[in-house]
Amino acid sequence: MTDERSAMKIVVIGGSGLIGSKVVKKLGEQGHQAVAASPSSGVNTLTGEGLAEVLEGASVVVDVSNSPSFEAAAAMGFFKTSNHNLLTREAAAGVGHHVALSVVGTEFLADSGGVGGYFRAKLAQEKLIKESSIPYSIVRATQFFEFVNSITDDATEGNTVRVPTVLIQPMAAEDVASAVCRVATGRPVNGTVEVAGPEQFRFVELIRRGLSAHGDQREAIDDPQAKYFGAEVNERTLVPIGNALLGPTRFDDWLRGSQYGTLAAKS
Ligand SMILES: NC(=O)c1ccc[n+]([C@@H]2O[C@H](COP(=O)([O-])OP(=O)(O)OC[C@H]3O[C@@H](n4cnc5c(N)ncnc54)[C@H](OP(=O)(O)O)[C@@H]3O)[C@@H](O)[C@H]2O)c1
Repeated sequence: MTDERSAMKIVVIGGSGLIGSKVVKKLGEQGHQAVAASPSSGVNTLTGEGLAEVLEGASVVVDVSNSPSFEAAAAMGFFKTSNHNLLTREAAAGVGHHVALSVVGTEFLADSGGVGGYFRAKLAQEKLIKESSIPYSIVRATQFFEFVNSITDDATEGNTVRVPTVLIQPMAAEDVASAVCRVATGRPVNGTVEVAGPEQFRFVELIRRGLSAHGDQREAIDDPQAKYFGAEVNERTLVPIGNALLGPTRFDDWLRGSQYGTLAAKS
């Protein structure tokens, strides 16, 4: 049983990644022994390398790793094998709480073409966690602000960004990490917690704000036929189902404070 009042050893699988590095930093600042674990630090959930050693004495495992490939078969192989290895080793090590990061709308996206294969892999990950003997919490987040640039590029044809006529409620990676830390230092919910940004946008409005933030001349338009990375989405696929925890950071404030303009600038 975890106890939010005392310092714990918390292993962060994917601790070198966008979310993972923020989670490790925040947990460390809260006085926990946060250990970043990923191939770059000698821990590989696909091969099992380094897993038994790093899990020794861990109270909580946070899995914020990601498949190096979003292609359907590769993603399925990654999430199935790595979760099988991880959950088996966690059970042997007596880990009391497994926390994993997933995506709002996963079951709807999984029914679709395009990136649907990636979401079928995320569903398989969630299923393995639910079927394991380890108390767990699944955190489903909406799209990260940091991901808006990739969404824009994927939807671009020539000078036009064609996006579906739906709602979207993205959030800052910093707020995703805060939510993951809050869940990881609490008691297992043995269920799913949704987290999202503070504002819902029409998808096209979000993209326009991102483009104008760095003077990108591409034109964003609404198109009921447009897909999201090849997947069909409806009005509410990309927004939380019920009461979500909301991050405080607004997109416009994030745009002003981030390196978005320089990072996203297109030649
Ligand atoms: N993008 C979004 O908008 C969004 C929204 C909601 C949820 N999510 C979820 O958020 C999670 C984290 O995403 P992110 O963008 O923070 O990921 P990321 O920056 O791409 O980082 C991926 C991490 O996975 C690690 N990793 C890769 N292969 C591994 C292996 N075999 N064993 C252990 N670790 C391995 C990497 O380690 P190395 O650096 O050592 O290679 C890296 O630390 C994903 O599960 C994703 O589904 C994403």
